Amino acid sequence: MRSRTRREFLKSCMASASARLLAGPAWANALQQPAPKNILQMSGQLPRFIDPLPIPHRIQPCGKHGDALLYRVRMIEFEKRLHSQLPPARVWGYEGQYPGPIFEALRGQPIEVEWSNHLPERHLFPVDTRIHGASPPAPEVRTVPHLHGSRTDSHSDGLPENWFPPGRSVVYRYPNSQQAATLWYHDHALGITRLNLYAGLSGFYFLRDQRQLSMNLPAGNYEIPLVLQDRTLDERGQLVYSPTLDDGSKLPPGVWGPQFFGELPVINGAVYPHLDVEPRRYRLRLLNAANTRFFRLYLNLASQPTYVPRLVTFHQIGSDGGFLADPSPLQKLLLAPAERADLIVDFSGLEGRTVTLSNDAPAPYPGWDVLFETHPQLLELMQFRVVLPVAPAAKTFSLPPSLPLPPVHPEEAVVTRDFVLSDRTDAQGRSLAMLIDGKGYHDPVTEFPKLGSFEKWRFINITDDSHPMHVHLVQFRILERRGFDFGAFLNGRLQFVGISRPPAPGESGWKDTAVVNPHEVLTILIRFEGYTGKYVFHCHVAEHEDNDMMRPYVVVANKADSSIRSTGI
Ligand code: C2O
Ligand code: CU
Ligand code: CU
Repeated sequence: MRSRTRREFLKSCMASASARLLAGPAWANALQQPAPKNILQMSGQLPRFIDPLPIPHRIQPCGKHGDALLYRVRMIEFEKRLHSQLPPARVWGYEGQYPGPIFEALRGQPIEVEWSNHLPERHLFPVDTRIHGASPPAPEVRTVPHLHGSRTDSHSDGLPENWFPPGRSVVYRYPNSQQAATLWYHDHALGITRLNLYAGLSGFYFLRDQRQLSMNLPAGNYEIPLVLQDRTLDERGQLVYSPTLDDGSKLPPGVWGPQFFGELPVINGAVYPHLDVEPRRYRLRLLNAANTRFFRLYLNLASQPTYVPRLVTFHQIGSDGGFLADPSPLQKLLLAPAERADLIVDFSGLEGRTVTLSNDAPAPYPGWDVLFETHPQLLELMQFRVVLPVAPAAKTFSLPPSLPLPPVHPEEAVVTRDFVLSDRTDAQGRSLAMLIDGKGYHDPVTEFPKLGSFEKWRFINITDDSHPMHVHLVQFRILERRGFDFGAFLNGRLQFVGISRPPAPGESGWKDTAVVNPHEVLTILIRFEGYTGKYVFHCHVAEHEDNDMMRPYVVVANKADSSIRSTGI
């Protein structure tokens, strides 16, 4: 080993399975070699699917506070090996874990979390201090956790400006008063959310309820959380945050860019992992926790990514905020940043087969580039190997029963609000900022929905990229997507063209994040339920959200009518 470079070492590891056994001790030798300069190219050739999929731990409460279970979560910088053939990377995580530990919450059982910032004073990545809220005197390292998708009091929602520096903590209360859902928590600090998220600050929060617990869904080892991300590593295996312009050209370190695309898939904090499964039903809880990347996912039986795909049909049973009315059979699933999907995959009949979780979403999305040309390493994400025997005495799981959702009544909307999604460019057409209605986060609040009322929000996208729009506090329903006449719009008229498209089957339930495609209008119906106070809505492309596609809104009391029908969530 001594005379060989690590690159050669890694190459030899790819060749045979026996080399895998050497990886541990041999790696120690390899570490003493000077770091090769070309790990970046090499990372595209990292041996795939040799590492087992890590499953994040469940976090346990540390006590009670009144009616609430109490948890303590520290944000820490630490080292973690993202691939067994790479040196450990410096990352940030909750309780020393990346992704963070999983919360198991039960409807009706409130919890309180003491979030404390134990991070160092220096950020893992260069900070662009020209962005609103990121300039001194704001300290370089600031955090504020947000429970995405939850109906939470404004004080505990993690507003971007409520950040706190290292050495400080907050206690947030989560009432868990909504139905079972796949929620997630992540950092939301003003002007550096993209960097904090990229450093590793995100995790799952499973909210369960009695109805769900009475269903016969796969549970325990048969319920698999999957946090999907993309990351770029440098010659020492360390995370690199290098955003790009719309045309893909790189920006100097520390300069904001409208998009970031990582060069490797990272699932639950592991590059190209695999999971051994039994030939039976599994429940997969998926989260797109990437900064910019959309994933269009499919389960592929073909042995090479370049072969004609052989797709495995699966069922989507839930979206962001709860179960769908009926399980929806799918072969492909689009998951934009911050979206979640609850899936049932049946591996029975696939004994001995290998199923590759694959992705063919263009980047940027919907884009004009073919993924295969720009990011071929992202075509494959992880493998399921159907190699385990069915556990003795294992019970057979089923799909959820039909669960009719409350009907949507668009006519109940008391207000229709229009939001134009645009970008501000320089003379060369390069993005300088992303905006909502030409405004940024610090412009005065213009939206004051009344508590309990329904509103229609229309997002009008005049950019060339899709934007996953997210509204805090609420779970909404998608009414339609529709094209519009761009020329007429520039003359001040919103004139629809083409047909009105209803939400895709997987989007027809409760959503808190929904994609607005280029030159389309997305219309959603929201009921502002639960709390008055300040909240935010924004694009969940973290680069857009930071600069400056995010706006505040304030829910105000509605004295006139306290008897409005509940949405039932
Ligand atoms: Cu995922 Cu403002 O949140
Ligand atoms: Cu949110
Ligand atoms: Cu956006």
